[in-house]
Amino acid sequence: MIEVRDLEAAYGETSVLQGISLTVQPQEIMVIMGQSGCGKSTFLRHLIGLQKPRAGTVQINGTHVSEMSHKDYRAFCRSVGVLFQSGGLFNSMTVGQNVAFPLKEYTRLADPVIDIVVKLKLQQVGLGGVENQMPSELSGGMKKRAGLARALALDPNILFLDEPTTGLDPIIAAGIDELILRIRDIYQATMVVVAHDIASSMQIADKIALFRDGKLIELGSPEEIRASRNAYVRQFLNRQAERDEDGEGALRYLR
Ligand SMILES: Nc1ncnc2c1ncn2[C@@H]1O[C@H](COP(=O)(O)OP(=O)(O)O)[C@@H](O)[C@H]1O
Ligand SMILES: [Mg+2]
Repeated sequence: MIEVRDLEAAYGETSVLQGISLTVQPQEIMVIMGQSGCGKSTFLRHLIGLQKPRAGTVQINGTHVSEMSHKDYRAFCRSVGVLFQSGGLFNSMTVGQNVAFPLKEYTRLADPVIDIVVKLKLQQVGLGGVENQMPSELSGGMKKRAGLARALALDPNILFLDEPTTGLDPIIAAGIDELILRIRDIYQATMVVVAHDIASSMQIADKIALFRDGKLIELGSPEEIRASRNAYVRQFLNRQAERDEDGEGALRYLR
């Protein structure tokens, strides 16, 4: 479904990703992990064609994302859902208008139909009844849910989520993790999720890709990652466990 080969990315002279190759199978949840600044968001932006690779290729359903015609790229955008790291809600619009935005941009549905779809999507993420509120009135977790509702507006079959649970307290984050799994089942969607919380990743991932300084250093199921002998992987998992305030949480994934 998604095939990345020898991807290189750079900002000007600075190389940010080197030789990344991986594939994501239909309905798989691939979690991209790694320390802040290692290139996760940059990788995601290449998958959705917002940045062009310096070298290497990204193919989605057999098509090179960076070489699509304007028309094909528009069709591609219509078939994927994206949640940006910042949440990316338009602050001057109500929550409902935010969710309606892709429907107005990409479909010719009549306004009353759009209203129904917006209500449905908000209900699906557990936010029924907030359509007339402004984003500033929502808590962090609610903002992420609203961003998810907007990402789901066009019934995508691929979802790209950049740090959907970062910065949320553990209970709220666990709720979002559950929602991600439910969405995968309802939409039969393929997902690429950037995360830096190990507990959360172990919970939702079919495969985990661990990045370090722009390189893919380990790729496997949660069990394989847990059993990895790679020193950096061990260190990464241990450091996360130490950071965990109650000393439990992530630790249980190391046993
Ligand atoms: N627009 C940009 N221009 C220049 N450098 C950038 C830009 N975006 C990110 N970077 C740099 O690229 C590296 C990877 O960033 P990013 O992909 O955001 O990492 P992550 O999402 O893993 O935290 C960092 O060193 C960051 O400073
Ligand atoms: Mg990022």
